[in-house]
Amino acid sequence: MTLITLENRGGKTFEVNSKRPILETLRDQGVDLPFGCKYGGCITCAAKLISGKVDQKRQVALNNRQINDGYIILCVARPLTDITIKIGVESHDSLYRNPFLDPLEPHELKADIARSKEDE
Ligand code: FES
Repeated sequence: MTLITLENRGGKTFEVNSKRPILETLRDQGVDLPFGCKYGGCITCAAKLISGKVDQKRQVALNNRQINDGYIILCVARPLTDITIKIGVESHDSLYRNPFLDPLEPHELKADIARSKEDE
């Protein structure tokens, strides 16, 4: 069993099965979390990873800047260690940026785009 601590919910801790997506396993335990597609594509369920590690290979919603800022996609992410996260829209403070005022650098694009740029 793995522990998930919700930093912005009074540090409440949940025991979860690390083989199941975090969104599913927390919702089963009564945590109210926003979600949309449930396949890692829409970004609605994004949360901020404060500590620990997750496997979120299946996500396609985040660009590299958002990943470097600590965002994880709860509907596909599975914890690899005990983790502490910040959930809900209040964790989205640096998720969206104005692309005209603060454009992404090539290395901050989504991984597949960044790769194809490197290949040029
Ligand atoms: S619900 Fe759409 S990315 Fe998680």
